[in-house]
Amino acid sequence: MHSLPALGEIFDSKLKAYKLPEEPANLYDPLRYILSIGGKRIRPKLVLAAYNLYKEDVENAFEAAMVVEFFHNFSLLHDDIMDDADMRRGKPSVHIKYDTNAAILSGDVMLIYAYKFLEKYVDHTQLLYSLTTKTSIEVCEGQRYDMDYETRDIVTIDEYIRMIELKTSVLIGGALKMGSIIGDANANDQAHLYEFGRNIGIAFQIQDDLLDTFGTESLVGKKIGGDIRQKKKTYLYLKSLELLSQSQADRLRQLYAVGGVPISEEQVSEITSLFNAAHVDVHCDELKLVYQQLAFSHLDAVSVDSEKKSVLRTFAEDLLGRDS
Ligand code: IPE
Ligand code: IPE
Ligand code: MG
Ligand code: MG
Ligand code: MG
Repeated sequence: MHSLPALGEIFDSKLKAYKLPEEPANLYDPLRYILSIGGKRIRPKLVLAAYNLYKEDVENAFEAAMVVEFFHNFSLLHDDIMDDADMRRGKPSVHIKYDTNAAILSGDVMLIYAYKFLEKYVDHTQLLYSLTTKTSIEVCEGQRYDMDYETRDIVTIDEYIRMIELKTSVLIGGALKMGSIIGDANANDQAHLYEFGRNIGIAFQIQDDLLDTFGTESLVGKKIGGDIRQKKKTYLYLKSLELLSQSQADRLRQLYAVGGVPISEEQVSEITSLFNAAHVDVHCDELKLVYQQLAFSHLDAVSVDSEKKSVLRTFAEDLLGRDS
């Protein structure tokens, strides 16, 4: 069993060696750009790690890792247009460096390439295509709810959790399931690995939302406060409404009110102060822990030596303790 950093190195070196077509340059350059500016490579590492629970020749799972990393990057190209986010991984987003049309079309071709990488796995075609299709549809559904909630007055915490499950965690669950399918794991293990990833993914998105307001720009690589500017109905917002005094909660609602003028930087600071007054970071950490523990209960149920599984356990602990 390889360590996670070792799996990351295998993925990165094979990715570097992989050559996209040169022409049309304006189609493929944005792909080269987004892939070259890094990212944590969480999802491809998870594909390789899940495969490696069952098989040693991890290079065989490289194309499956490319499926999820290409899908993830495609979703970021479009997400940054939808979220009006100018910075990604500490660099200009694709629609800023190139233009919006480039981010749309290069995103589209990246999604198609994600499917193309599946062609290799002739023995697992049915399962892999249906998993990839189901996951892709769910991510789109989650992204739609995320935008719908920007302008919806009342969103429940359950609706928020379902939304982040769709937009983020199904891909993390899917990455693990994909690796386990190619590794010929039994259906029970596949399901538990999926659930491990799904729950880790929910905790991961809560953390991403927390960092969007309280993180450090140079570490997160995104402009701090973006979610507030877009009036995202995150757990920070929804839980603060529950925790604050009536007058503070009314003020928070008013600042987020539909049809309000574009949020000024003073208002972003005021909202951040209200989140602080609610100590919402403590509540985010508590909720993250609930999902982390649920995730570990599924990892425990996977029928593989604990020593091998410890790679995934450590990975989750490190991921959910990050500040970037
Ligand atoms: C960003 O994902 C989008 C979310 C689901 C929060 P990552 O934080 O994994 O992004 P990179 O690939 O490391 O940049
Ligand atoms: C992104 O959620 C989820 C997808 C791209 C599918 P966010 O909008 O919170 O991700 P960041 O913060 O821009 O990375
Ligand atoms: Mg975004
Ligand atoms: Mg978004
Ligand atoms: Mg975010």
